[in-house]
Amino acid sequence: MKGKFVTFEGGEGSGKGTIIRLLKEHFKKKKVSSVFTEEPGGTREGLAIRKVLLNKKHHFDALTDVLLFIAARRKNTNNIILPALKKGLWVVCDRYYDSTYVYEGFAGHIKLELIKKLHELARIKIKPDVTFYLDVLPEVGLARATKRNKVAKSMELRFDEKGLKFHNKVRKGYLTMAKKEPSRYVVVDTENNTIEQVFTIILQELNKRFSFPL
Ligand code: TYD
Repeated sequence: MKGKFVTFEGGEGSGKGTIIRLLKEHFKKKKVSSVFTEEPGGTREGLAIRKVLLNKKHHFDALTDVLLFIAARRKNTNNIILPALKKGLWVVCDRYYDSTYVYEGFAGHIKLELIKKLHELARIKIKPDVTFYLDVLPEVGLARATKRNKVAKSMELRFDEKGLKFHNKVRKGYLTMAKKEPSRYVVVDTENNTIEQVFTIILQELNKRFSFPL
């Protein structure tokens, strides 16, 4: 079984973090070699960029945000994702370029065409084999995320605090992306399904597509 590139996308409070943790445990249990990474982050340098980006006290214009996300992505792609895939490992990435198209493009002011061009300039050419979009109504997701952030006392709130209108645009953006690429995208309803049900849907999809062990 050759490795595949799997990405997860989702708005705030979609359960993405929990699902990725469950998947990591499943890979271990089934002894499937894998690399788990995240964006922005994934590498030491990427994590440094993440801290710069997500700090509430920092203010960048939207284009600078995009450039920083892409800088972190270039490092993650070249140092983590591509080498792992070359070795035949599975790679699971928490967010990838779809996040930029959606957050800075659909929900922000940056033209999708420019985002595409900037990825080309950064020589980011790889495409996920499958992208799971964990869908939740922003009202529900934000309520969950607010609860979580209060508990975690997270400093990384710059992108979480943008309000309902913004998050509705994020959701619409993902659904539009999914419609454009129905063979790559899998939209999973995380509002009317329990975490266990969501996880089962994801495993079954991986099994159907790539004979991933259940
Ligand atoms: P994170 O704490 O990882 O949030 P989540 O748990 O929701 O994944 O913070 C990442 C934030 O950065 C998230 O709000 C989405 C945003 N983001 C972008 O705006 N553009 C991007 O390209 C990426 C990767 C993330």
